Amino acid sequence: MSNSTFTMIKPDATNNGHTGAILDQIIKGGFKIKAMKWIQLSIEQAGKFYEVHKERPFYGELVEFMSSGPIVAAILEKENAVADFRTLIGATDPAKAEEGTIRKKFATSLGQNAVHGSDSDENAKIEGDFFFSGLERF
Ligand code: CMP
Repeated sequence: MSNSTFTMIKPDATNNGHTGAILDQIIKGGFKIKAMKWIQLSIEQAGKFYEVHKERPFYGELVEFMSSGPIVAAILEKENAVADFRTLIGATDPAKAEEGTIRKKFATSLGQNAVHGSDSDENAKIEGDFFFSGLERF
């Protein structure tokens, strides 16, 4: 079990002014920020990040949305980080997310669901490496 995960605060949340509240909830949830950046992805970069979903019907919509505005990308550290972070953010579909979770509080819809959280230790490493070089983390 690894002790880090990767997250993005998505354009719906950054555009709606929720960045501060979401970071606050992440930190109060016991996660340490090991690396963080505020950027806007190009269509090509978003397409590459979500390449695993290329065959899904929502891929085009997802890529367009994720490149439509600023995001915050971050590597987070905590014991049992991947599973604990998924608990903190709640179900992918905010309508099914537990009360008090980040997606329940801040997400717009299934497609525009405020935050991303890695689904495995392996993907946390791949996703963190996509955004951050060795120099940018500690
Ligand atoms: P995320 O955790 O970033 O990983 C893939 C994303 O695809 C997911 O969050 C959702 O925002 C999005 N997604 C999943 N299912 C659908 C769907 N049926 N329609 C639109 N977007 C979806």
